[in-house]
Amino acid sequence: MKKARIAVVGAGGIGAAAHLPAITALPDQAELVGIVDLDDARRTEAGERFGTDRLYSDLALMMAEQHPDIVVLATPPHTHEPLAIQVMRAGAWVFCEKPMTGSLASVDRIAAVEAETGQACVTVSQFRYSGGARQVRDKLRGGDWGSVLTGYANTSWYRGPEYWQTSWRGKFATEFAGATTTQAHHAIDLLLWLMGDWSSVAGFADTLDRPIEVEDASTAVVRFAGGGMATLLSQVLSHQQETRIQVTAQKATVDLETLYMPLMGEWTVRQVDAEGQSRVVEDWAEPEGEKQAHREQLANILAHWRAGERPELMVAEARATIEFLTALYKSAATGTLVKRGDIVAGDPFYEAIDAGGPSRAEGKK
Ligand SMILES: NC(=O)c1ccc[n+]([C@@H]2O[C@H](COP(=O)([O-])OP(=O)(O)OC[C@H]3O[C@@H](n4cnc5c(N)ncnc54)[C@H](O)[C@@H]3O)[C@@H](O)[C@H]2O)c1
Repeated sequence: MKKARIAVVGAGGIGAAAHLPAITALPDQAELVGIVDLDDARRTEAGERFGTDRLYSDLALMMAEQHPDIVVLATPPHTHEPLAIQVMRAGAWVFCEKPMTGSLASVDRIAAVEAETGQACVTVSQFRYSGGARQVRDKLRGGDWGSVLTGYANTSWYRGPEYWQTSWRGKFATEFAGATTTQAHHAIDLLLWLMGDWSSVAGFADTLDRPIEVEDASTAVVRFAGGGMATLLSQVLSHQQETRIQVTAQKATVDLETLYMPLMGEWTVRQVDAEGQSRVVEDWAEPEGEKQAHREQLANILAHWRAGERPELMVAEARATIEFLTALYKSAATGTLVKRGDIVAGDPFYEAIDAGGPSRAEGKK
């Protein structure tokens, strides 16, 4: 099998916990050809743990010496746009951690370089590649269970004081936005993928408790183009940590109860039987092996790369989630319903995902 040469930029939390293990778990498909990190200790530790001495502090030097096919960006959000553009111009695909970037303007600049270079910038959306997710989507969107009607996504996580000590977290300049974009990104992205094209959103977002600039909680109601509707709760304040998604279609209700890594066994499908009783359905899906979602998404990218095809979740596809998040923040800041397509160049929310956030934070001082 043709092996892809892969480098990782950022050997911190998610780089070391998910991306580097994903690459080394696919030895027939991928070769780790470099680790880039500005932090000497992290770089050295990652090199020892993942068996490479090709360690760099300079991305341009790594690109010139190692010629990777794919570069993973596992660095803070404010670095994604410049690094993605640099990598694509140097001739490689990008696999970029979420959020892709901090504004629709920035998304469109990355898309322009994707088009100019013929490379690809894929956003990490690992819940879509987690256990059961694609089978649920195929049933819901393929019409097996009838029209999609209602849903919710609840991301209730807890983040205490030590979490905000990482210098880039909690600030508009480096994280761009808070619980909705950083933590709830996964559940919101999955719900939108399961339910179809969103058409409008109304939301609230605020910093209720934590000593940070970005929001620590938000709620929203969503309408879908197909007529369905959903609610969202996104927070880092909950003493009961959980990620819950539910979607009801005409012939079935699916529930996911998980935290960070959905597994096949965490989905429950219920249908009403001939006697009008709600029953758990056992055989709704094909059996699946255990999926580590970052590795599954990487394997999916590699399959496209080997086939010479464009990968899934390039910028145009991933843009829908950033546009949705931006619309939620705009609704919260303006007290209006925001429709898909409303936010265009010239709108302050085109230039910043939560353009209302800084004045909200200022007002709290
Ligand atoms: N998909 C997920 O489940 C998930 C989970 C956690 C974090 N994330 C995302 O991953 C990204 C990184 O988060 P993290 O928690 O790993 O952060 P982190 O702070 O733990 O690690 C980031 C690393 O990047 C390095 N770095 C920063 N700027 C750099 C640059 N210009 N060049 C090279 N190295 C640089 C830092 O030294 C650090 O080692 C963020 O976008 C975050 O939202 C995703």
